[in-house]
Amino acid sequence: MNVLVVGGGGREHAICWKLAQSDKVDKIYCAPGNAGISAVAECVAIGAEDIDGICAFAKDNAIDLAVIGPEVPLAMGIVDQLEAVGVKTFGPNKKCSQLEASKSFTKDFLARHDIPTAGYKEFTDKDELLDAVGIFGYPMVLKADGLAAGKGVVIAENEADAKQAIEEMMGDKVFGHAADKIVVEEFLTGVEASMLCFVDEHTILPMESAQDYKRAFDDDKGPNTGGMGTYSPSLLFDAKIESEIREQILEPTLAGFQKDGLDFKGVLFIGLMLSDDGPKVIEFNNRFGDPETQSVLARLDSDLAEVFLAVTENRLADIELKWKDDKAVCVVLASGGYPGSYEKGKLITGLGDVDPDVIVFHAGTKFADMPEGSKCAACEDGCEMKQSAIVTSGGRVLGVTALGATHDEARAKAYANAEKISFDGVQYRKDIGLIHRW
Ligand code: AMP
Ligand code: GLY
Repeated sequence: MNVLVVGGGGREHAICWKLAQSDKVDKIYCAPGNAGISAVAECVAIGAEDIDGICAFAKDNAIDLAVIGPEVPLAMGIVDQLEAVGVKTFGPNKKCSQLEASKSFTKDFLARHDIPTAGYKEFTDKDELLDAVGIFGYPMVLKADGLAAGKGVVIAENEADAKQAIEEMMGDKVFGHAADKIVVEEFLTGVEASMLCFVDEHTILPMESAQDYKRAFDDDKGPNTGGMGTYSPSLLFDAKIESEIREQILEPTLAGFQKDGLDFKGVLFIGLMLSDDGPKVIEFNNRFGDPETQSVLARLDSDLAEVFLAVTENRLADIELKWKDDKAVCVVLASGGYPGSYEKGKLITGLGDVDPDVIVFHAGTKFADMPEGSKCAACEDGCEMKQSAIVTSGGRVLGVTALGATHDEARAKAYANAEKISFDGVQYRKDIGLIHRW
């Protein structure tokens, strides 16, 4: 079959890489893809949010299955539109995509179905919120209701910081209309973990767990990022926590979807807080996590195309996921300055030196779009950059992903190979795979 993957980051590289191993798949297209993805798929120059362009391409190229990576096209209703032109699509429809696109939608869902989560209150009026400052004490958790590229959560340590955040979010509109409504939550303590689940109308099927490192610097210091690395499976899970998650979160979530008429089909990503009084939902996302996907799919033995088809055809109950015993660690190499401002166009070297069994998933990369023999603007000494050279084009650039018989082996291998790759300003955390109890 012909598959179209929508997106162009490390998550989409991992999805394309895994689909390429399937006997069911003849051809993979990726819109827009990136330099690394072009090794396993044909990249087409259509943006992930150009829904009309994607629908037209899917029709013209006899696409049998579309797979949507990022949250924005999902929230825009790409699944409804692809299905309307007869393309089977893996991902939730617009109605279900509110589970990521609106924090209040999710909090109301969780409350209605008695699923453990932080207490909350919603505000649409700035003065009312200013009067309620510190309503649950401090730190005060303030969340922009809508999508804000993963940046819409502010944890204010005191009243002054909270008031400033409220002014910025509702007055200065730093997140645009995403913060027209703000959800204030109780501050939860514990350890965070991510759980990705395949979901269709009858079944919720968890994948193996993963641990994401969200802060920019070692020891969980610095600003929040999209994720600086992951390992799988999580070392924080045990049989007791898993059964609590199943009984208190997964089963009531599926029952809630059915009761509310939410015909969710795709991946539900559950951000969890493992607290002293049990697991609690911090957030739902309605897609694969990035970079969780890189270390989770690296360990998947089952045919991913078969799983995607089963979800779109409501046959997920027939699927049993098979996993490698190996552990995985993914270290993200990021551009200097990320998640703040950073420069692009830096020449990446050393990709060819990486061990053959280590997978380098590309996120923000592209081929150097310059004539043969021209001087590289990125290097002071002006190296000769070929057209086939790969340069940085985003904040998170590569995800060096290694498998090993133990976590330590996978970690050592990921770092030994990360060191072989360089580009001007490269930064990465040195503690991915180590357990912290911050
Ligand atoms: P979210 O986008 O909702 O996942 O929030 C981003 C990050 O903010 C989470 O990964 C947590 O580290 C933190 N966070 C969100 N909600 C809470 C909460 N209620 N209590 C403590 N930390 C939170
Ligand atoms: N790694 C977190 C996310 O994908 O949202």
